[in-house]
Amino acid sequence: MEFTEFTNPNLEVLFSAEVIAQRIKELGAQIAAEHAGQDLVLVGVLKGSSVFHADLMRQVDLPLSIDFMAVSSYKDGTKSTGDVEILKDLSNPIREKAVIVVEDIVDTGLTLTRLLEILGSRGARSIKLASLLDKPEPRINKDLKIDYTGFVIPNKFVVGYGLDAAGRYRNLPFIAVVKDPEQI
Ligand code: XMP
Ligand code: MG
Repeated sequence: MEFTEFTNPNLEVLFSAEVIAQRIKELGAQIAAEHAGQDLVLVGVLKGSSVFHADLMRQVDLPLSIDFMAVSSYKDGTKSTGDVEILKDLSNPIREKAVIVVEDIVDTGLTLTRLLEILGSRGARSIKLASLLDKPEPRINKDLKIDYTGFVIPNKFVVGYGLDAAGRYRNLPFIAVVKDPEQI
């Protein structure tokens, strides 16, 4: 399908749908190989990771379950402060489960750091992190370990494949850099 946004002069494609699909296949195979025989749950962090979560789970050839959390990061201007409010908690306990938190992007890392702290007290067998994108330059928590990374990207604002700018562009099948964020 030819998306109309392909002709948006303010968007520059960074990863095509095909490239993303290939990488997710590799991540899914790696996750499956490392979790055989475990009670695996893939926790999607709404809303940004919804597309990645849906595609990733279908590349993990193991019995697994899914769950969701929704969090809001308080931002001080455009900077993340690390204060995280849980808007929607998990539906099921994670005691004894192998948990993989599935995120769209890790930027400062403060949101994930807080989320992993919250989940860390619930008796899971293991908690790992899968993020489609890793934007290391603005990272504040340098100790945050991403177990499964799709792509490392430069310090640019990106949209598409679940990622939004003011709620838009989540439905783009590709990931694009916003050339002029003022014009979005
Ligand atoms: P942290 O706490 O790691 O926050 O700074 C990560 C969250 O910030 C959002 N974010 C982005 N969203 N394009 C987006 O659409 C981006 O380039 C971008 N960088 C950070 C996102 O919600 C992520 O979960
Ligand atoms: Mg997000």
